[in-house]
Amino acid sequence: MTAGHTGNPSTAGRAAALSARLEARPGMPPGPKASGPVRLVRAPGRVNLIGEHTDYNEGLVLPAAIDREIWIAFQGWDRPEVELTSAEFDDTRSFSFEGLSPETRGAKSWIDYVAATAWAMREAGLPIRGFRGVMNSTIPIGSGLSSSAALEMASSWALAVPGAPRPDPGAMAAIAQRGENRYVGVNCGIMDQFASAAGMAGNALLIDCRINQFTTAPMPTGLSLVVCETGSSRKLEASAYNTRRSECELGVKLIAEREPGVRALRDVDEAMLERNRDRLPEVVARRCEHVVREDARVMASVAALRDGDLDALGRLFAASHASLRDLYEVSSPELDAMVDIAVSVPGVIASRMTGAGFGGCTVSLVERRAEEALREAVLAQYQKRTGLEPRVYIVAAVDGAGEVILGA
Ligand code: GLA
Repeated sequence: MTAGHTGNPSTAGRAAALSARLEARPGMPPGPKASGPVRLVRAPGRVNLIGEHTDYNEGLVLPAAIDREIWIAFQGWDRPEVELTSAEFDDTRSFSFEGLSPETRGAKSWIDYVAATAWAMREAGLPIRGFRGVMNSTIPIGSGLSSSAALEMASSWALAVPGAPRPDPGAMAAIAQRGENRYVGVNCGIMDQFASAAGMAGNALLIDCRINQFTTAPMPTGLSLVVCETGSSRKLEASAYNTRRSECELGVKLIAEREPGVRALRDVDEAMLERNRDRLPEVVARRCEHVVREDARVMASVAALRDGDLDALGRLFAASHASLRDLYEVSSPELDAMVDIAVSVPGVIASRMTGAGFGGCTVSLVERRAEEALREAVLAQYQKRTGLEPRVYIVAAVDGAGEVILGA
């Protein structure tokens, strides 16, 4: 659902608290006035079931938007400016549309993701409108559940001129991704923005990152989606992420010298990789092997979800995790320990690291009756093994970003 997310009691309570905070803010600056009632937009974080480090290789991913969300209560105004308060940080930031460009970006701040979206929307020819707003978030920050992509997608709704035509979720995700790549300077793929934009309640999304289209893959009833946060730092992430991207690009370049028509690792299958392995530096060959096989695992996982083949899901998640650990080298001792603990719990069907890696979270598919056993096992064992405090979230797949219509 892109708009008209139906209000429920907690929705109404959260909306009322945010709106009250917006209205209690010091008066409007002189000049143009905010117009119209307070509106509310939301955008979810995401967890990726499988298909890791494949999006920027034009491959396949299988994320779900989750019920950890960013909300913005806002009023549009006729100033070319955004003024936004983060309720969590108790911090108000603003930026002007005038002269907005990656070159003039100020000191790094969370508002950059909003400014990046405004910049990219304008670059794409979409009309934008200023607003004053207050946001809050239930997405743990820095955990790898895509709070930045959610902020971008919520912003894309708040910035849109009411009534103006809106690109479809995949196109809007591509615009926000461009903002993050070019304005913020983070070289991410499209998965996080896409999942936040296009999520469907009760479903994972099979996204083809070559054509930016998706189909839905229903989550099996009876299984819960559990996210375990390792609490370990993702400090290395940005530089190591970019290195992995370049290694994949080098692989494509070297393979394409002998195999015309290869534009991305999506065009390479296992046989082609094997016959070109001698041309590739050893580390590049391993990176490529991960990506090529991970795409195949995504398709196999969609089939296993459809057929309720739980054993296959367990094997595919385990193979993905091992490949990310050994071939792509983006896991960490903490992620490995978390997966190890999870798979030892009866009723845990499948478990692996999720997202970019180097810390962050794992994702597990768990029989409902085993949810608490998993939580207890993690709480009892993880800290002893790593010295870090874990967090366990049972999450649900929800709709993508949109306006919240209260009382609908
Ligand atoms: C991060 C990026 C995504 C994707 C994943 C790895 O979340 O933002 O685009 O590349 O890492 O699968």
